[in-house]
Amino acid sequence: MTPLTHIPVLLKETLELLAPKKGETVLDVTLGLGGHAAAFLEKIGPSGKLIGLDTDPDNLAVATKNLERWKTQVDLRHANFRDLGSLDLPSVDIVFADLGLSSPHIDLPERGFTFREEGPLDLRFDRTRGKSAAEWIVDIDEKDLSRVFSKYGELKQARRLAERIKEVEPKTTVALAECVREIATYRAPSVLPQVFQALRIVVNDELGALDALLAAGPLLLKPGGRMGVMSYHSLEDRAVKNVFRDLATPKRSEETGAITEESPFVVLTKKPVRPSEEEAAENPRSRSAHLRVLGRRIF
Ligand SMILES: C[S@@+](CC[C@H](N)C(=O)[O-])C[C@H]1O[C@@H](n2cnc3c(N)ncnc32)[C@H](O)[C@@H]1O
Repeated sequence: MTPLTHIPVLLKETLELLAPKKGETVLDVTLGLGGHAAAFLEKIGPSGKLIGLDTDPDNLAVATKNLERWKTQVDLRHANFRDLGSLDLPSVDIVFADLGLSSPHIDLPERGFTFREEGPLDLRFDRTRGKSAAEWIVDIDEKDLSRVFSKYGELKQARRLAERIKEVEPKTTVALAECVREIATYRAPSVLPQVFQALRIVVNDELGALDALLAAGPLLLKPGGRMGVMSYHSLEDRAVKNVFRDLATPKRSEETGAITEESPFVVLTKKPVRPSEEEAAENPRSRSAHLRVLGRRIF
């Protein structure tokens, strides 16, 4: 695989559940390299429309090329889905989010997402704004860094890791990995991904952006519309599950418990959809994917 390739995850299942139809409008808020978007465009045909967002201008440029043949039907924008409520978007038939990293983030060491190769300790999806992870570590105090490791990395040695990392203030991926190895010793292979994940979550405020997406996305659905969110760690999946469940819960009378108002939404996936054994073997990066789908009723 070249660094500018990304295999779309749960593609067949996404198409089955979101069921794009001829002439529909799709909003893909995590365009990546446009893999899912191209499949949506095939299904919606020449009378359909796709609006695509990505916060990473590099990925957006690749997706723009990859979707060239549909250029009259697509509206691709450099935007963060945290701002979905203020982007002045029309109502759509499908909202789709495939959260987190794309393969180029991991495969290009200069992005600073991988501890396997030397690169600047950056970890931003959007390098045009915000602080890199290295700058962020300089600005945060040790206690808060330790909290980040406990909360987002579920790390047992959070305090000692934070202490060592604040002493060193690493500027590269390899320097950070070295700090982790000093503290975690033989546990380093499992601790390293958790440390990088925790930093990525805070540097990009991933959970804050997801909350904003879950608040604004369902409101953009036309009657009969569908919203699919694919997440790759339990903190994200829990947020999606809870918001979808709450949205689909009818209002009840406090006195009798009887339903007083049906919800306009329904959860279309009772359990999250997971990759098959074959997909996980063919594309190990799909292994942790959880897809949940919400529908808006016709009434
Ligand atoms: C898993 S990839 C999507 C891959 C895509 N489905 C494909 O088939 O090529 C996730 C993409 O979402 C982008 N992203 C992450 N957080 C974002 C946010 N808050 N707003 C917009 N895009 C975001 C990343 O830059 C990355 O390109």
